[in-house]
Amino acid sequence: MKIIPVATLKKASKSIWLALGGALLLGWSVLIVSCATTTTDRQVVPPPGAVAGATYVGSDQCAACHDQKCKDFEGAVHSRLVAQGDNAKSVGCEACHGPGSKHVEAGGGKGTIINPKTSPEVCFQCHMDKRGQFRLAHSHPVMSGHMSCTDCHDVHNGPNAPVTGVQFANVAGNKVNAICAKCHSEQTQPHAFEHPAMREGCTFCHDPHGTVNAKMLKVRNQILCTQCHAQRQDLTGGVMIGNTRHTQSQLSAGACWSAGCHTAVHGSNVNYHLHSPL
Ligand code: HEC
Ligand code: HEC
Ligand code: HEC
Ligand code: HEC
Ligand code: HEC
Ligand code: HEC
Ligand code: HEC
Repeated sequence: MKIIPVATLKKASKSIWLALGGALLLGWSVLIVSCATTTTDRQVVPPPGAVAGATYVGSDQCAACHDQKCKDFEGAVHSRLVAQGDNAKSVGCEACHGPGSKHVEAGGGKGTIINPKTSPEVCFQCHMDKRGQFRLAHSHPVMSGHMSCTDCHDVHNGPNAPVTGVQFANVAGNKVNAICAKCHSEQTQPHAFEHPAMREGCTFCHDPHGTVNAKMLKVRNQILCTQCHAQRQDLTGGVMIGNTRHTQSQLSAGACWSAGCHTAVHGSNVNYHLHSPL
């Protein structure tokens, strides 16, 4: 038996299967529901430690005692995960916490169900691509346990979560900025001269899961900037960026921010051209 993501999208008021094929294309593995009945020809990443002998009971069971968490969870992407098979159950909670029968039999308590705490392993079971990203040279220190996925993703909250809903991947950039602001106040504070690029959100330029480039930049050279600031030739053969003529020696001195020019790329308190104080 294997878990497949099934979506009952309330807003569209129809059932949609998050295609299993699509899921596998994106590199997700399939969660083993029962060790005895593993049937898949794909690579399977074993769940992190299971509680011996426990079986899946479905998220409904959890509501008896974790009422608020279950309410918050409504509409969350992960609440739509169900096990495949005749006795298909909604395994939303158990997708991450593992089978919960022993925990329920014991009337709750610690040690009878998996609490992933800061371990990203539980997420990597399905989001395998993220494991690779967090191993790149420039990434947030999740692998070392200094940070966790839940610092940025609130997995227990559905789309109505104030800012940190796991859904925030779908919301406008400025909400993402609010998450980054928790730890990066220097970049997110107001500046006398704002850089409108910030409205697009931090993730226009950075990939918080990690990249091969310094500072987790998505692009390591001036192309990062010329995506929005087109370069044009003027009549004398000079290069115009914005309303300013740039000389060849300026352009070959390095990236726009590392050549000593637009060093205040997140906003400047000195001037419009995003320079830093001397
Ligand atoms: C996408 C993975 C995921 C899903 C789905 C999930 N959890 Fe969690 N849960 C976690 C992680 C990670 C932690 C530890 C970090 C934290 O507390 O946020 C945790 C911690 C907990 C804790 C202990 C900490 C606390 O806040 O009391 C409880 C209880 C809990 N989850 C219950 C639930 C219930 C009930 C559901 C379903 C309504 C659920 N979880 C769904 C990942 C998940
Ligand atoms: C009969 C009540 C009850 C039911 C049903 C129940 N829980 Fe719990 N759960 C508790 C209690 C009590 C605790 C301990 C809380 C504490 O000590 O802070 C707990 C703790 C947890 C923890 C943290 C465990 C740890 O070691 O830190 C998780 C995760 C959790 N529950 C998930 C679930 C999930 C998922 C379900 C549904 C499959 C579920 N619970 C069903 C009562 C219940
Ligand atoms: C520093 C903050 C941060 C951390 C830590 C983080 N994420 Fe994300 N994640 C984001 C942001 C921001 C987005 C939205 C990306 C965008 O809008 O371009 C996102 C999007 C996602 C998405 C949906 C889009 C996609 O890229 O597939 C998944 C899945 C995801 N994260 C999983 C994880 C997992 C798993 C972990 C831990 C191993 C993790 N994230 C840790 C910030 C973070
Ligand atoms: C059992 C498999 C499974 C596990 C375990 C799992 N996820 Fe997911 N996750 C999914 C699926 C399936 C989706 C839906 C993708 C989609 O909607 O396209 C998803 C979507 C997401 C998204 C994007 C939400 C959005 O609104 O688009 C984020 C962020 C995310 N997961 C983070 C996590 C984190 C963090 C953990 C660990 C605490 C985790 N996931 C554990 C299967 C899983
Ligand atoms: C929970 C705190 C926290 C959150 C939230 C957070 N970060 Fe970070 N960030 C850190 C830590 C810790 C480092 C690593 C510093 C180190 O490794 O020296 C870091 C490093 C960085 C760096 C690289 C700095 C360097 O010198 O290479 C960038 C860029 C960055 N974060 C962007 C973001 C973005 C964008 C977001 C929002 C999507 C975000 N961060 C959310 C804590 C956080
Ligand atoms: C227009 C592109 C762009 C946007 C948008 C952007 N950044 Fe950056 N960020 C950069 C560049 C370029 C650097 C490298 C600067 C350097 O090396 O001097 C950088 C560096 C950083 C650093 C490392 C700072 C240091 O001193 O090492 C952090 C942290 C950071 N950004 C966080 C953020 C956050 C948080 C946001 C959103 C509020 C954000 N960035 C939005 C381009 C951007
Ligand atoms: C998402 C689009 C976007 C990206 C990416 C972007 N910018 Fe901007 N930037 C703008 C907008 C919009 C303005 C305000 C209108 C203008 O002056 O062109 C602006 C203004 C500026 C200004 C002030 C205008 C001037 O003539 O001095 C500078 C300097 C600047 N950006 C540098 C950069 C640098 C350096 C990068 C790359 C790290 C960058 N921008 C990336 C959108 C962007």
